[in-house]
Amino acid sequence: MVSLVVARALHGAPEVTDLCICRDRQLHGDRPTWNIVRSGMRVLAWRGYAGVSRSTSRRHRFRRQGLRPAPSGRSNWAKGIPMRACGVSGPGGDVGLLDLPDPPSPGPGQVLVAVEAAGVGPWDGLLNGAGWDVGLHPPAALGVEGAGRVLAVGADVDEFAVGDQVLAHEAPLPGGSGFWAERVLLTAADAAPCPSGLTPAEAAALPVNGLTAWQALAALELRRGQRLLITNGAGNTGSLAIQLAAAMGIEVTATASASATDRLRGLGAAQVVDYHDQDWPDQVRGQFDGALTAATGTAAAAMPLVRDGGRLCSLTFDAPAPERAITTTDLTVQPDATQLAELAKQLSEGTLHLTPEPLPLREGPTALTRAEAGRTGGRKIVLIP
Ligand SMILES: NC(=O)c1ccc[n+]([C@@H]2O[C@H](COP(=O)([O-])OP(=O)(O)OC[C@H]3O[C@@H](n4cnc5c(N)ncnc54)[C@H](OP(=O)(O)O)[C@@H]3O)[C@@H](O)[C@H]2O)c1
Repeated sequence: MVSLVVARALHGAPEVTDLCICRDRQLHGDRPTWNIVRSGMRVLAWRGYAGVSRSTSRRHRFRRQGLRPAPSGRSNWAKGIPMRACGVSGPGGDVGLLDLPDPPSPGPGQVLVAVEAAGVGPWDGLLNGAGWDVGLHPPAALGVEGAGRVLAVGADVDEFAVGDQVLAHEAPLPGGSGFWAERVLLTAADAAPCPSGLTPAEAAALPVNGLTAWQALAALELRRGQRLLITNGAGNTGSLAIQLAAAMGIEVTATASASATDRLRGLGAAQVVDYHDQDWPDQVRGQFDGALTAATGTAAAAMPLVRDGGRLCSLTFDAPAPERAITTTDLTVQPDATQLAELAKQLSEGTLHLTPEPLPLREGPTALTRAEAGRTGGRKIVLIP
């Protein structure tokens, strides 16, 4: 029925007591496989679930990469115990703690990830039928970004193996449930390898804000020496956009509270104006080649500050109609593993800065309230399941 091979001797893995390798491609990711392994043995999969009958080149690659035993003891996933989550029990329901069934086993091109940290943002309030359809199927966990360790890989997944650390922004969510949980199902192509220098909290803080900043700058098509206005420069997206733009040689003016001025100047902003002053548009110098608006209602105020033929990109879906040959865009962030890998590299090397505030999963509801109100104090909340 189920084919497992005890392979300690075969692969000579002294640190592994007993080793089971799934011979059948589909078996490793399935809970039935784990349920069979109740005798203290450990389960291994290598890329593509290659079994002992697979090609020698795959075997050699497996040996070269080193064995990746499953963690000591069997996980709740393996035991079939419901997972802890924070999310919604039904359409339009309040956010709270839940016990959820596990995500489905990974299908072709998918990975199952044990979540180690998950990002919280103002957008999470939109996921349950309130404006951002990410394929949530309540009861479900919220969260469209996070970091963790690969638990199982589906067929045709060559980029990751069990045990790899990854980070991702995912939308739509292939399992109908998000990252605010012990486990989440992802499309492998949307996940990026996590650099060894990053903690899970740092990695989980990055995906949505980092990708949004990157993609907004790409939409604005700015060049070295040009001028950019960012409204809400103090927010997590704005502060990453300041850093990326400054590194490209773009001169950035940001709006923020006066208390954030020194921080934003330290990140590379040339000018910071206090948005609490209703006359802030009069205080900025000259016209801008582009505007990135990241606070509701600021796109209309920014539009007159953009030069003829310039560009405006709104993150809050309030881009004004084009005028004076200005291109206006409402941007929705997209998963992109290549961009995310580069952002993660820069974060691990210290050329990008983002400060996470880790909180336990049970604080998810209050974390969401704070994120929606913008009361995050210049830090990015991440939940630790
Ligand atoms: N479309 C997309 O794909 C996408 C992706 C990411 C984010 N977003 C949206 O972009 C917005 C920003 O998200 P975020 O996570 O970067 O922000 P955030 O970190 O939650 O922003 C919080 C900051 O907003 C500042 N703020 C509030 N109103 C402001 C205003 N009128 N002008 C300037 N600053 C203001 C607050 O500053 P003080 O505390 O100093 O007052 C606070 O520091 C949210 O609406 C979010 O939903 C959209």
